[in-house]
Amino acid sequence: MSDRPLLLRALRGETTERPPAWLYRQAGRYLPEYRELRARGTFAALCATPELACEATLQPIRRFKLDAAIVFSDLLVPLEGFGWTLHHGDHGPEVVDGPRSAAEAAAHARYEARDTTEAPARTLALLQRALPAEVARIGFAGAPLTLALYLLEGRGSKGFEKGRALLWQDEAKAQALFEALAIGVAEYAAAQVAGGAQAIQLFDSWGALLAVADWRRLVLPAARELVARIRREGVPVCWFLRGGADHAALALETGADAVAVDWSVDLPAFARGPAAGRAVQGNLDPALLLAPPDVAARHVRALRRAMGDRHGWIFNLGHGITPAARIETVAALLEAVREPSDAAAPPVTAR
Ligand code: CP3
Repeated sequence: MSDRPLLLRALRGETTERPPAWLYRQAGRYLPEYRELRARGTFAALCATPELACEATLQPIRRFKLDAAIVFSDLLVPLEGFGWTLHHGDHGPEVVDGPRSAAEAAAHARYEARDTTEAPARTLALLQRALPAEVARIGFAGAPLTLALYLLEGRGSKGFEKGRALLWQDEAKAQALFEALAIGVAEYAAAQVAGGAQAIQLFDSWGALLAVADWRRLVLPAARELVARIRREGVPVCWFLRGGADHAALALETGADAVAVDWSVDLPAFARGPAAGRAVQGNLDPALLLAPPDVAARHVRALRRAMGDRHGWIFNLGHGITPAARIETVAALLEAVREPSDAAAPPVTAR
């Protein structure tokens, strides 16, 4: 069907006339209309109020040519479904009175849908009515290790040293925590699918803080379980693992339909090599959005040339948009993804 979203076709590895495009944190503070909406209430209230979350989700869609809308919420919101309390301070969300050990965390990691964590599902239902059929609706959640690190650390951090120390204090309980989080996150994602999500994006933003062998041993079983449970709901899953090609290759082992990589990875080589036959997503440096529009457009064209006619490629950044992103550069970047492919085709070579 012609109005089947391009994103869903690419996630299934099908041929598309151009890569579909969306951007991590496409709704957010770089948009004046978001800052205006945000001035009227807290970030937590935005996430918890479906009408407002729907409005925030739609803002970038109205402005730019995007192929998908990602439900407005936050990575840490489902922690409330596990019974922990969040506080939204100046440096992002924090866990109030969080667990003091992996054992304590694992013992309490039973997910129950509570009001706040149901908000994304209700927001998706509103989005289904508001969006044209060709714009895909993406739900999202945190991957088990990334969520566990936030939970044990209590807040965002450069290296999550405290969180990692608590994982190492009791490996068996750490594993039990990953399993419990996976089961809860799968339920949280299933609610989003019931609300109208057509694909689920998992963020393992801090997945590379464990060595490859440790990740495989301690996290992979829970990761595979999580992916299998979401896929059983009938939607494709994309796993973002930030931190280089070796870790990105781990994400392939989860069984996810697509693997998303940051800009440190040579995407064309990764797509031809370890990820052959699998959909990939990425991966321009988000700092390009602070550059003049033509610079960002040039990088898009170069990546398109290098990717050639690779099926199953979803264009995105390598990590989230930052508040200093220039709107005209975001627009130019997305225009360049839509240019006819001969503009981006490889130069003709003599044979
Ligand atoms: O447009 C979208 O992508 C949808 C909404 C979305 C947000 N956060 C909104 C947000 C999504 C998908 C996220 C994911 C998220 N949140 C991640 C995973 C992706 C990544 O960036 O690695 C993580 C680690 C978080 C946790 C988080 N949320 C932090 C550390 C912070 C504070 C830092 C910051 O950027 O302010 C947030 C806050 C946050 N999440 C904002 C938005 C729009 C800013 C809140 C505000 O308006 O004050």
